[in-house]
Amino acid sequence: MIEACTIVIFGATGDLARRKLLPALYHLEQAGRLPDGLHILASGRRPWSRKDWWEEARQALSATQAEPLDEGVWARFAARQDFISGDLRDPALYAELAEKLADTSENAAFYMALGAAEYEPVIRHLAEFKLLEEQRGWRRVVVEKPFGFDLDHAMALQQRLLQSLGEEQIYRIDHYLGKETVRNILVFRFGNVLMEPLWNRNFIDHVQIVHAEPQGIGSRGGTYDASGALRDMVQSHLLQLLTFVAMEAPVAMNAQALHAEKLKVLQSIRPITPATAAACAVRGQYRGYHREERVAPDSRTETFAALRLHIDNWRWADVPFFLRTGKGLTERQALVAICFKQPPQQFFRASRIACREANWLLIGIQPNECLRLEMNVKSPGLPLATRLADLDASFRQSDEVGNDAYEDLLLDVLNGDRALFLSYPEVEQAWRVVDPVLRAWRDSKAEVPEYPVGSWGPPEADQLLGEDCRSWRNTLAPCPCRTPGGRNG
Ligand code: BG6
Repeated sequence: MIEACTIVIFGATGDLARRKLLPALYHLEQAGRLPDGLHILASGRRPWSRKDWWEEARQALSATQAEPLDEGVWARFAARQDFISGDLRDPALYAELAEKLADTSENAAFYMALGAAEYEPVIRHLAEFKLLEEQRGWRRVVVEKPFGFDLDHAMALQQRLLQSLGEEQIYRIDHYLGKETVRNILVFRFGNVLMEPLWNRNFIDHVQIVHAEPQGIGSRGGTYDASGALRDMVQSHLLQLLTFVAMEAPVAMNAQALHAEKLKVLQSIRPITPATAAACAVRGQYRGYHREERVAPDSRTETFAALRLHIDNWRWADVPFFLRTGKGLTERQALVAICFKQPPQQFFRASRIACREANWLLIGIQPNECLRLEMNVKSPGLPLATRLADLDASFRQSDEVGNDAYEDLLLDVLNGDRALFLSYPEVEQAWRVVDPVLRAWRDSKAEVPEYPVGSWGPPEADQLLGEDCRSWRNTLAPCPCRTPGGRNG
């Protein structure tokens, strides 16, 4: 049961709070999942009254909802909210916050909807005003990904946080772990006996993890230009997906067990060095990126990144994992595609029919949610021929609505469940994976390959797949490389 508490949102007027946090809290209100004593204290720089904030929050919410707001729900939701105005670096803000918290509840979750550079001053001030001490109730801090800017910064940030907080008070959020399709990977893997014997290097040829977006960076110019696709998407979201696909079964669905297994996967990834980076990492920038608002005219920031990784353990040795993400690509698509090895062909050879399609397991994360295994079957009629049929294990019926990732993760924060948040060792290890690539790209004088908006990124990314007749599985539709005779001709 959730105890009475206050959620303090730092950066409440920013994009994340408006597009994700407020709608998630509103939906929880609508579903009756917020306890009576829950307060929301929005913090921002604007000199707003509580009423001004209500207007702002209402507008932000309306912009994200397909239906008009339910007035009854909105009234209950608004009554929980208050606004506190001030500069994050000004102690006066925290003095006022301390007073407000004294009037509401002993339990508080501080949500840092801010850039990582702001975490340190905010935590320092919270500590100075003793707002992080858990004498009477719990105090939790939620920080967004990426945790830090690179490996060194992440290590320094962690040290700074630990001066004021216990590790168990820190909730490092990666909203991908709140997605139902992502959590379903664990249920599918560990709730069924059929897959386990096949889930290894003996049967799997390679794994692809893809996140593609058709739009550019929109209004995020300043922050995105300082970050790039590797930090923005790969360091957390895609590497976390990789751990879900590759980890051993945890002994329980709890933070300690999950974190331990994910960490082992990350530690087993073969280190990339500046010398090997060129062979296993590709970057790109969409044409016209320089013309985006608040982007440096000579920016070398990548809007596309692809990696080939190897997990050198007993389950996965020799199975490459290909990760790819980009903005300005052909379509919106997040998927995990697992390609199994080709079956031997002797049965088909004499009859001259082709059955050379590999089996693919496709896990569509969004927008199309699916979980299906492509199998070769006989085509009806004569002559004897084969075609693909799907074994469909999609977990949601078309009329079933689930929660948004932030809804579940916010409830987890309030319930004190850290299983779907990242431990510090995982974050540090993920930085160890990408840091050499970041450094190699920073030091390289080579041009950043450009790709047209609406494409699948620079052609260099295809070369990552090697010469084994592998190709990117761009969509959930049948692979374009297929010919009637199978992809090997
Ligand atoms: C965010 C990134 O973490 O994830 C964005 O900063 C990206 O650049 C977004 O667009 C993608 O999330 P989703 O849930 O829309 O796939």
